[in-house]
Amino acid sequence: MLPVRPMGVEVPPTPGQAAPSGFEAVGSVAVRTFATHQHMTTTAHTMKMMDGQHVNAMAGNESGRESTHFADYDEVPEGHFYDPDAEYEPDPEYAATLAPDAARQRRERIGPTGRPLPYFPIPGPLTDHGPAKIIAMCNQKGGVGKTTSTINLGAALAEYGRRVLLVDFDPQGALSVGLGVNPMELDLTVYNLLMERGMSADEVLLKTAVPNMDLLPSNIDLSAAEVQLVSEVARESTLQRALKPLMQDYDYIVIDCQPSLGLLTVNALTAAHKVIVPLECEFFALRGVALLTETIEKVQERLNPDLELDGILATMYDSRTVHSREVLARVVEAFDDHVYHTVIGRTVRFPETTVAGEPITTYASNSVGAAAYRQLAREVLARCHAE
Ligand SMILES: Nc1ncnc2c1ncn2[C@@H]1O[C@H](COP(=O)(O)OP(=O)(O)O)[C@@H](O)[C@H]1O
Ligand SMILES: [Mg+2]
Repeated sequence: MLPVRPMGVEVPPTPGQAAPSGFEAVGSVAVRTFATHQHMTTTAHTMKMMDGQHVNAMAGNESGRESTHFADYDEVPEGHFYDPDAEYEPDPEYAATLAPDAARQRRERIGPTGRPLPYFPIPGPLTDHGPAKIIAMCNQKGGVGKTTSTINLGAALAEYGRRVLLVDFDPQGALSVGLGVNPMELDLTVYNLLMERGMSADEVLLKTAVPNMDLLPSNIDLSAAEVQLVSEVARESTLQRALKPLMQDYDYIVIDCQPSLGLLTVNALTAAHKVIVPLECEFFALRGVALLTETIEKVQERLNPDLELDGILATMYDSRTVHSREVLARVVEAFDDHVYHTVIGRTVRFPETTVAGEPITTYASNSVGAAAYRQLAREVLARCHAE
């Protein structure tokens, strides 16, 4: 079935940008160009022009009500927040031929957070790597998208040529599972790295199927660390010490925290430069966030003055529901510029990727979800470069 764009969000096909293969090399990375979208856009657009009935028929089911199948987010190539050419770096010569106010229009396009959606450029290739920026993916609430965001932000950064290390810091080992590792079969995990003096990270590190991305896996052993660390000297900075020898090898280290504000999470915050807080666009999203920001502030004051809240990431957003939009508006009201412009939509593709054991950027490379995490990667990089 052909994808149908939601009403009222026409993006006219732009001439002159077609790349025959649908990919172009940016540095060492193949980046999807506008061509693929343009094809979809034009097709959906033409169909609507040709035959409104046809489109309506596709949108409805037998009973004439709105079809849940049509409502499947995945089949819609672009939600109203999805920037079809965000991944396309216009060639400067072509850009000069655009209408004089095109750049302004682009700047003033309103994103899902109700603010003008900036353009996040494709990052240039790096010639040398490190020292790493450490990001803690943190929220004491479970099921908000921490693990999903760690895997997919990491994979997107790696696609842009950054060297990435993911740290599974949850004894449930969901990050490891999501990358196709069976935690029960591991002899050495991040637990050994934390607790055993003289253990080198190389013994624990695993290469993932994504080039440029490695993993420090974990399993249930890590839950013992929470108890054992209590009697350690400088117990809060154990992870920081363990990661130190790895700093030069990576550009980004992303730590997937467990859903609590216990000693493991405090270790992650002590090691980190930045925190990303995923928030599910649901009614109780903001509940507990005050406690979380208080914890971040305490760590900042007492243990790690470099720590800062990089951003709040709205996840599982569904632009079709008033509820989702209201929650997002509340989050923006509360956190203002801390909220990423990039918002992650709700799609069944994410649970599927866990089963497949790979990031969405490889599992469904052309999906809206993959594009969203690529945009998040560019936004995170843009924030880092702005410093
Ligand atoms: N944007 C999304 N849309 C739909 N399901 C999602 C999305 N992000 C995550 N999920 C699913 O929600 C569940 C919880 O996500 P997860 O990333 O494991 O959260 P956390 O690590 O915060 O507990 C998982 O089954 C995951 O596949
Ligand atoms: Mg998790």
